Amino acid sequence: MDNSPELKTCSNRRAFLKKGIATGAIGVGVGFNLFGNSSSVLAQSEGPEESSGSLTSGDAALLRFAAAAEILESDFWVQYNELGGIQDSEVPGGSGNPIYTAKLQKLDADFPQYIHDNTDDEITHFTFLNAYLESKGADTINLEPFRTLPGSTATGSSGKPRLTNLMQLTLDTSWWTRYRSSDHNPDLDPAFKFPQAVPGLSKGQFTAIPRTDADLLPEKHIQAIANTAGFHMPTIEQGGNSLYPSMAQRATSVEVLRILISIGPTETMHFQTWSDKAGNAPPLTDPTNGLTFPDLNSPPFGGETFQTNLIMPEPCPFLNRKLPKCSIIRPTETRGVAMGVVNFLTSMGLFIGQPKEFFELLRDLAEDADEAVRESH
Ligand SMILES: [Fe+2]
Ligand SMILES: [Fe+2]
Repeated sequence: MDNSPELKTCSNRRAFLKKGIATGAIGVGVGFNLFGNSSSVLAQSEGPEESSGSLTSGDAALLRFAAAAEILESDFWVQYNELGGIQDSEVPGGSGNPIYTAKLQKLDADFPQYIHDNTDDEITHFTFLNAYLESKGADTINLEPFRTLPGSTATGSSGKPRLTNLMQLTLDTSWWTRYRSSDHNPDLDPAFKFPQAVPGLSKGQFTAIPRTDADLLPEKHIQAIANTAGFHMPTIEQGGNSLYPSMAQRATSVEVLRILISIGPTETMHFQTWSDKAGNAPPLTDPTNGLTFPDLNSPPFGGETFQTNLIMPEPCPFLNRKLPKCSIIRPTETRGVAMGVVNFLTSMGLFIGQPKEFFELLRDLAEDADEAVRESH
């Protein structure tokens, strides 16, 4: 390529981040030893013969973007777990917030277990992806230098610095109606606007966790916070549920394809679970800010578009309207998917407080992933 200052900055930043991993900086805040050392990772890969050999730059970029997304996912799931999940050695750090946890349990008694298991899954996703990249001699990704955001100081929180911000969320809940629509698929109708399930969450900024113990009262306020979490979880997971099949279409190695199509459906399992729980969010209005959670089973909501137990994907047009409708994940358009995910997470407010270098790095990773092409051998 050329020697523009921009590219130089980019490669310098990469070198810095890679060095961060080599010196063991990654994962320090989470308390996990991610890699042991690279030689032990290589030594353990006795199974598939494809474990040795190298990746195309496109395959590495796809996996590296996925790893970055998984690190960010893990960070906010850890925050949820500290306050509302099961505290154990698999997901250590917090001590639980009984009032918040009780409100989450209004959506499902098993909510803390599901938070715990989702958190555990995400940690394994990025740990595996980075270890796989390293085993192939490819650059890994480390976001620890950006672990600077203050998190919740409510009872139960570890109080450690965060990568993501759960306290100023603006949520697009249109996935709710996208998966209930039999006529529209965003891949075929990019201009169609799917209605929001919770219109209030798409306007303004809302916390999904108690920021301090002052958020634990009044009761409808902390329930609204729990409801916000209840909608944030599927909003995120439906993104992962689209990201993996979208990226898989451009994988070159069958093993990289296998990784993408084996992790992707776990995101779908998360999404389906959370979309079912979100439907149990008690209808109410937060007296402190007016945020309203509507009764999705009664007019003007209700019907095919909103009914809460319609959690299987409604068959919709796929690929071509001349073909019969099909029950599918949507969207799965591969072009620009990584940048789309960066924009989606950014506009959600998840990174409020991060410096411009953070966004530059994410955009670099997304650009590389979006440039990956499926190569024929
Ligand atoms: Fe994940
Ligand atoms: Fe996930």
